[in-house]
Amino acid sequence: MKQAPRSAKVSPRLAVAILAAGKGTRLKSKHPKVLHEVGGKPLLAHVIAAARQVVSPEDIYAIIGHEAELVRQRVEGTGIRFVVQEPQRGTGHALMCAEPALNGYDEVIVLSGDAPLITPETIRKLCDFHRQKKAAMTLLSADLENPTGYGRIIRPGAKSDQVKAIVEEKSCTPTQRKIREINAGFYAFSVKALFENIRRIQTNNPHAEYYLTDMAQVLSKAKQRVVAVKTDNPGEILGSNTRAELVQLDRDMRRQKCQQLMADGVTIFYPETCVIDSDVEVGADTTIEPFVQLLGNTRVGSDCRIRSYSVIQNSEIADGVLVRTGCVLDEARVDAGAVIGPYSHLRPGSEIGEGAHVGNFVETKKMRLGKKSKANHLTYLGDAEIGDGVNIGAGTITCNYDGVHKNKTIIADDVFVGSDSTLVAPVKLGRGSYVGAASCITEDVPPDSLALGRAKQIVKEGWVKKNKNSTS
Ligand code: UD1
Ligand code: CA
Repeated sequence: MKQAPRSAKVSPRLAVAILAAGKGTRLKSKHPKVLHEVGGKPLLAHVIAAARQVVSPEDIYAIIGHEAELVRQRVEGTGIRFVVQEPQRGTGHALMCAEPALNGYDEVIVLSGDAPLITPETIRKLCDFHRQKKAAMTLLSADLENPTGYGRIIRPGAKSDQVKAIVEEKSCTPTQRKIREINAGFYAFSVKALFENIRRIQTNNPHAEYYLTDMAQVLSKAKQRVVAVKTDNPGEILGSNTRAELVQLDRDMRRQKCQQLMADGVTIFYPETCVIDSDVEVGADTTIEPFVQLLGNTRVGSDCRIRSYSVIQNSEIADGVLVRTGCVLDEARVDAGAVIGPYSHLRPGSEIGEGAHVGNFVETKKMRLGKKSKANHLTYLGDAEIGDGVNIGAGTITCNYDGVHKNKTIIADDVFVGSDSTLVAPVKLGRGSYVGAASCITEDVPPDSLALGRAKQIVKEGWVKKNKNSTS
């Protein structure tokens, strides 16, 4: 490989730090704030996803503190790194704790772990503006109709792109409180300027905390350049300090999700009644009826119809599947052209084959139903392997649990199981075999045979009349 000429510009080493150590007192929750969910995912996971579009995961540092271990466990799969802030003495203190981790970088973008709508485009815009202005600190600001609760931006003059200070709501004078330009809580810093000056911030504020926002004043007093770039999309900066804000964010996110899916060719009737998580994928020409929930990492193919009141979580549904009213699917897989429901319950590990039918009040778990097989009514199928072309009669039960172990039922292709049969596992039904209705099957059935496991019917002719006569 050719060596880069010595004069070539080396791009600055960029890190992202995500503030995620706070308790979230205003949520009145025992759970850490950044693990509260919107769009079906923790707040912090959304911020990490946006940051990953800009830098690689090993350059993302989540600053954690309150319930740090819980937070770490929940998001460590993303490959990011962690800094622990203990105790939590404010957003400025959080950055002080991150100094050893960030020292090797030239620039750091600071994001708020409780503001999940931030987009990669805005993070890039913040970074580009920071570089263009050769600033020590750049912050993202927004003009809000109602700026209550946010830090206000103090500029040296009306036209200036520079910032003199950020004043938190609680410390605002009545005039400052009228300023509508607010601090969104996202920043870019020159790492050198940040850590050379961060010890100058003090705790003389109502919370006795080190505010990161005070860096604006500290740096501008030190004759360093502090600028703000305004976002043209104020919706993106919304935080979630209260339950009401959390629910509003969730609603916004899901509305956007439905709009995205519709733009991609999915019909969603009454989208405001549907709950679709942000990572869900749905193919074109699928129709989603009112009051459907698609959750987690569910994938639905094309040309499907998902009827009302179905709740589908972490499941995979191929093309052309009909899920009728009121089904619950959890970690299930449904192959092309299958028909599910109404009122089927597919529990984890259920695999429904191509063109198969699972009908009303059928519960399945850890099982495979082969191509074009049918289990249409009132049945429990657990720990079972069922081949192709099998007919499972109404009321069939796989007795998979002996009180200690779970045992398997194996049903080969083209078997017919009569209604109300109990299959006591472990048991095998050979290819093409028949089980008579109401049988209790405890032994393997060879291929092509008929198994009957029920008491022989007795008929006593004239019994009723005789009995009635003797008692009258
Ligand atoms: C902060 C800003 C405010 C801005 C608003 C935008 C400060 C002092 N104020 O206020 O100017 O308008 O965001 O939403 O920064 N955190 C830590 N360690 C701590 C304290 C907090 O990591 O010791 C984390 C929190 O988990 C949270 C983030 O920092 O993710 C912001 O803290 P929060 O208390 O929500 O600040 P705001 O009051 O919203
Ligand atoms: Ca906040």
